[in-house]
Amino acid sequence: MKRLIIAIDGPAGAGKSTVAKLVAQRLGYTYIDTGAMYRAVAWQVLTEGIDPASEAVANLAHKLDMKLTYVDGKTEVFLNNQDITDDIRTPEVSRLVPKVAQVPELRAVMLTLQRDMAIAGGVVMDGRDIGTHVLPNADLKLFLTASIKERAKRRWHELTSKGYTIDLAELENEIACRDKADCEREVAPLIAATDAVMVDTTELSIDEAVTEILELCKERQTHV
Ligand code: CDP
Ligand code: CDP
Repeated sequence: MKRLIIAIDGPAGAGKSTVAKLVAQRLGYTYIDTGAMYRAVAWQVLTEGIDPASEAVANLAHKLDMKLTYVDGKTEVFLNNQDITDDIRTPEVSRLVPKVAQVPELRAVMLTLQRDMAIAGGVVMDGRDIGTHVLPNADLKLFLTASIKERAKRRWHELTSKGYTIDLAELENEIACRDKADCEREVAPLIAATDAVMVDTTELSIDEAVTEILELCKERQTHV
């Protein structure tokens, strides 16, 4: 059976990574979290105190030594051989990453890395521009959405369970700002590909979303 290339895009908290991981696990595919790659660069920008809109980010892009591994259901991220897996999920990094992700030179480097990772097939890749720019010929493109209230609630539960104290309304505002920046940037903005299947997860449990997507995969496997 053909090993598909599956692209999943959508705004923050729509359930992309949770669902993508489970779909990849069920199909025996590789899961690639492109958000983690942009987060890693944002972490470096933050750590080195670089201006996120400066040429220094473009220079950094050309010297990137990044490795992603997927171990026991978790994407591990290494930058210059340093394990920064947990450091890239902080609210500070979340706030900075859309600024860094606007730098065209960085996006060009990421696009090449991400295409190389998907070349062999049997891949589920999630992000913002996967169906539109990174893998325009993907066998199945999905655009996951959910209401902003539901997405903020999900992220709030996730962060508070990790020990962060964060106000729900403030988090909702931050997510809305990040979505806006992602949707309005000039290079590879967040937008559904014209041939993407829209999946609204507001009322769906994780299991229901996974089942719906596995059905779509089965259909595509018989049609490609
Ligand atoms: O997990 P969450 O949805 O909060 O975000 P993420 O997937 O980790 O992505 C973090 C940020 O990276 C996004 O808000 C975008 O600014 C950027 N990103 C991007 O520009 N293009 C991608 N393919 C993936 C992420
Ligand atoms: O990757 P993305 O930012 O789109 O979202 P996520 O990190 O996969 O999901 C954010 C949170 O929502 C996680 O804690 C998931 O467990 C939860 N979730 C949910 O409650 N119901 C869904 N249908 C999907 C995700």
